[in-house]
Amino acid sequence: MADFDFRKLEKDDKEVRVATAMEPGATNLQSESLATSYERNTEKLLQRFTGLRAFSLELAAPLSAEDCMLQAVTDVSPVKWHLGHSTWFFEKFILDDLSQKYTCYNDKLYYIFNSYYKGAGEHLHRFHRGLLSHPPLKDVLAYRAEINGRIKNFFLALHKAKNDDLLNEALARLEIGLHHENQHQELILTDIKYNFFCNPLYPSYMQQPSQESLRSLESNSLSKNREELALRYVPIQGGLEKFGNDGKSFSYDNERPLHKVFVEDFNLANKTVTNYEYLQFIEAGGYQDFRLWLSDGWDFINKQNLKHPLYWLPSGKECMVFTLGGLKPLNLAEPVCHVNFFEADAYARWAGKRLPSEFEWELAFSKQEEQASEEELREQANFVEQRLFHPREARAGVGSKGKSSDRLYQMYGNTWEWTVSAYLPYPGFRMEPGVIGEYNGKFMNGQRVLKGGSVATSSSHIRRSYRNFFEASKSWQFSGIRLAE
Ligand SMILES: [Fe+2]
Repeated sequence: MADFDFRKLEKDDKEVRVATAMEPGATNLQSESLATSYERNTEKLLQRFTGLRAFSLELAAPLSAEDCMLQAVTDVSPVKWHLGHSTWFFEKFILDDLSQKYTCYNDKLYYIFNSYYKGAGEHLHRFHRGLLSHPPLKDVLAYRAEINGRIKNFFLALHKAKNDDLLNEALARLEIGLHHENQHQELILTDIKYNFFCNPLYPSYMQQPSQESLRSLESNSLSKNREELALRYVPIQGGLEKFGNDGKSFSYDNERPLHKVFVEDFNLANKTVTNYEYLQFIEAGGYQDFRLWLSDGWDFINKQNLKHPLYWLPSGKECMVFTLGGLKPLNLAEPVCHVNFFEADAYARWAGKRLPSEFEWELAFSKQEEQASEEELREQANFVEQRLFHPREARAGVGSKGKSSDRLYQMYGNTWEWTVSAYLPYPGFRMEPGVIGEYNGKFMNGQRVLKGGSVATSSSHIRRSYRNFFEASKSWQFSGIRLAE
């Protein structure tokens, strides 16, 4: 049982009345209708703000205050810290940066919830996040509610002041803050999964989805498309193509600018590698054959004594897998998940294939868009909104145009897909000006690009040009393998 009623708190949050003096003219939200006082864009973004902030609390709802404190290793952060840090982000980059008279809510919270922004002052070391028994969770939730109210009042004040330049800047920051909240929602799930896995009792974050709900999600596509879903390689015509984000909708600085890259013709697997296929690699001695591994990868798996993907628990002829719904038998038809880049690369070499580059992945994705609209692809993907929190077997049913043999499945959602591409700046890359420029650019060293999103990614967060990035040894994200040749 959770100690706190997060949903009730979010309701209270919506009703919070904050008498803030940060801007002249700030008034109580209750006194004026949103429809009349906000312009459409602001209203839309603030609605998303309210919904997303509530969703973070929904994700935390099954957890106790003790659960919310866990930090098994430096890579994972406590849920309590994620809730506080995503709040700090709005406070720092909107209220503190854009308001002349702002007084921060609490200096100590400002310090502990700054992640790594050197331009914002001193911050807590990452590994010490698990020591934060103080402040108590209820104080962090109160901080969230307070900043939510201040943000709404701040935008109302900007409209009253008719300061369009500042409003535009604030809206841009709000949009970044929303995507940042999405990223920490994903981390709430991946981090609590890792933390619970380290507990010998293997606690469950959630109930396993019922067979009935799984069936309704699958519709009838599985049975009728077994043939279509056989592994095949789809030919993709290369050429000199444009990659990156065109700037017509939101993107991070690391996706820009649009630039040309020449790509040779190639073939891409129509689906990601399954547990069954990966098991064949293991049984063939893949983890014992140094010829398959990059040198750093070979050293890493031996130092860590790795013999299978994270969360697999083999015992004799059986293999259980740890999920957010607790332990369950390994489903061989599901995509292999929680493999690091070294494992993905070794598997590809064993299979006589390779990993695609980020540009090949993007080019193939644009071909998929010729068969199904962006909306259809999002609707049918296994994202966090499905609340399965676990990858599912490949399924057909997307797109009505083109030959079924040319279709690529589940490029969106399910598992992030490792690419061979190093995470580097695009030609002409410019960091966002100011402290927020520390968001992405300073991490362009020693990491690989992943594409497509996962079961923990929000549909509203992902896009074709999105570049996720992790070090080659990391496997606690929902990361899988799609092969190229
Ligand atoms: Fe962050």
